[in-house]
Amino acid sequence: MIKEYYQFIKEYLRLANPRKDYLLITFLTALFYKAFALLIPFFASWIIKYATVGDFNTTYLSLAFLGISYVLYHLFLYFNYRIYGKNMQYCYTNLHTKILNKLMTVDENFTKKISKGKLLNSINSDVLDIGDMLDTLSELLMTLVQVFAVFVIISCFNLCLAIIFAIYAYIYIASRNYYDKKVNEYYEKQKKNNDQYSSLFSQILNGLQEIKTFHMLPKLHQKLNKIKKEYSKNYMTKRKYYVRRENDVRFITHTFSILLYIVLVLLMIRNIIRVDILVLVIGYFESMIAYLDDVIESSSTIREVNVAVKRVDTILHYRSKEKLSFGDYEKETVKGILEFEHVSFSYGNKEIIKDMNLKIIPKQITAIVGESGTGKTSIFNLILRLYQVDNGMIFLDGKDIYEYSKPSYSSMISVVNQKPFIFNMSIRKNLDFVDKDITHQIEACKRVGIHEFISTLPDGYNTILREDATNISGGQKQLISLARTLLTKSKVLLFDEITSSLDPETADHITHLLKDLKKDHTIIMITHKPELMKRADRIVVIKEGKIVGDGTHKELMKNNTHYAWLQTKKSASKMGVFDND
Ligand SMILES: Nc1ncnc2c1ncn2[C@@H]1O[C@H](COP(=O)(O)OP(=O)(O)OP(=O)(O)O)[C@@H](O)[C@H]1O
Ligand SMILES: [Mg+2]
Repeated sequence: MIKEYYQFIKEYLRLANPRKDYLLITFLTALFYKAFALLIPFFASWIIKYATVGDFNTTYLSLAFLGISYVLYHLFLYFNYRIYGKNMQYCYTNLHTKILNKLMTVDENFTKKISKGKLLNSINSDVLDIGDMLDTLSELLMTLVQVFAVFVIISCFNLCLAIIFAIYAYIYIASRNYYDKKVNEYYEKQKKNNDQYSSLFSQILNGLQEIKTFHMLPKLHQKLNKIKKEYSKNYMTKRKYYVRRENDVRFITHTFSILLYIVLVLLMIRNIIRVDILVLVIGYFESMIAYLDDVIESSSTIREVNVAVKRVDTILHYRSKEKLSFGDYEKETVKGILEFEHVSFSYGNKEIIKDMNLKIIPKQITAIVGESGTGKTSIFNLILRLYQVDNGMIFLDGKDIYEYSKPSYSSMISVVNQKPFIFNMSIRKNLDFVDKDITHQIEACKRVGIHEFISTLPDGYNTILREDATNISGGQKQLISLARTLLTKSKVLLFDEITSSLDPETADHITHLLKDLKKDHTIIMITHKPELMKRADRIVVIKEGKIVGDGTHKELMKNNTHYAWLQTKKSASKMGVFDND
């Protein structure tokens, strides 16, 4: 068990990394207030001892010592609480930062291994539990010191009494340990149910629209109820062991109290101890019950926190399938020339991109087209450095993309997806993430053509964007997200089917916008829409991970049967009609 605790403490220290000074002050203040707590029964017995023999001077002195002990006890306890709060906050912020930083580096498999619910629970309660840990540890260690000190003191007076104390402590700890393990086992199960519940609930929140449309609620209710039932079952079993523990432990304490009183009376009858020793021993026995309680409480908290530590540890030590490492090459601006040289890439054994050679130049709209599942988004993922190529190289302005530093590269390349991610904050705050300058923000919004609309809103740029907001359409949100992308000053803009869920008018507007943006950007767009393909300056046709066509719409229509076939496929939604200039 000691090894287990040692291991746990090591893991905790590595994870929470508490400040050394906080660590020291916590242990020292705990040591002092525990030491003064030990002195209190001592001085109380002195008062009785000297009062009974009529030595009132020493009685008053003992009384003064008792008072001072109380004052110092509370003083150190106060300092201990103060440092506890500071350490808690430090640890909490520290762990949150670590988790957030980690989330920025994980790959897609992360959410398969660690559910959203588990992650949210970890961020909320596990981190708080771990923050408490330093206090619990010092409490445990110092209380053990106290228990040991009580044994030493009692055995100085009478060995028989010390043996009773020891047997009591052993039986008490063994029985509580047994029940605590059981309680903890079911507590862990409860936590697991909690994770499942939160996970399902967060999925429900994400899919409210679909749930309503497809009338999925009864089925979801069933699922939620099943988890709830299991939760209640585990809770009741935990409760059962909890109640049994309380009863058994009280019974043991009462039995030993009686035994102790009998022995004390016998010792007094035989004149082996005096009344002050009797008071002292009883005082220490009462303290001992509290100390043992503290020891057990702390160790069961430690066991619970162990679960939290392990959960946070799995998040922080999650290893992305492939370790991507980037260089430190910095560049202020780039022209935006992207080149694929013999690039191949696979997910596991499945080859997705096959020996691809491709050069994409600025001031053009390049469309990447092809059937579903043919590897278009994978090309973007490679450009975004989310994965490492298996073979070949990708260059940006002639430099291997993996050699660029992280901040430098991410400021040059941006992606706009079908479903833009917008925070539940004001338009202004959403844009602030990239550039706080309001004139730049307005410029960007003007360029994407959303400024006028924003100006008509009662709160203007302070309008709060919400998923369920009715004052702003999906298309308008898309435009705001586009404005945010422009604020990044990225030279290369990747658009992954952004128009597919938009109304014809906004889609039409965005297409015109791309024409404007190409003047100073490299534009690459993935699209399934024949009407949109026609608008591109160059079309790259992908089939099963290979380029099977490359040219303008007119050229490809003449000599590329696959492209001609893609053109015959019906557009997902009716678009505005474009004049083919
Ligand atoms: N993370 C992944 N792990 C394993 N396989 C994947 C992963 N992402 C995509 N794939 C597979 O790789 C292939 C290419 O996917 P990709 O998303 O690049 O296609 P796409 O051309 O963008 O398709 P769509 O037009 O439907 O968006 C598909 O067969 C897909 O199932
Ligand atoms: Mg795709």
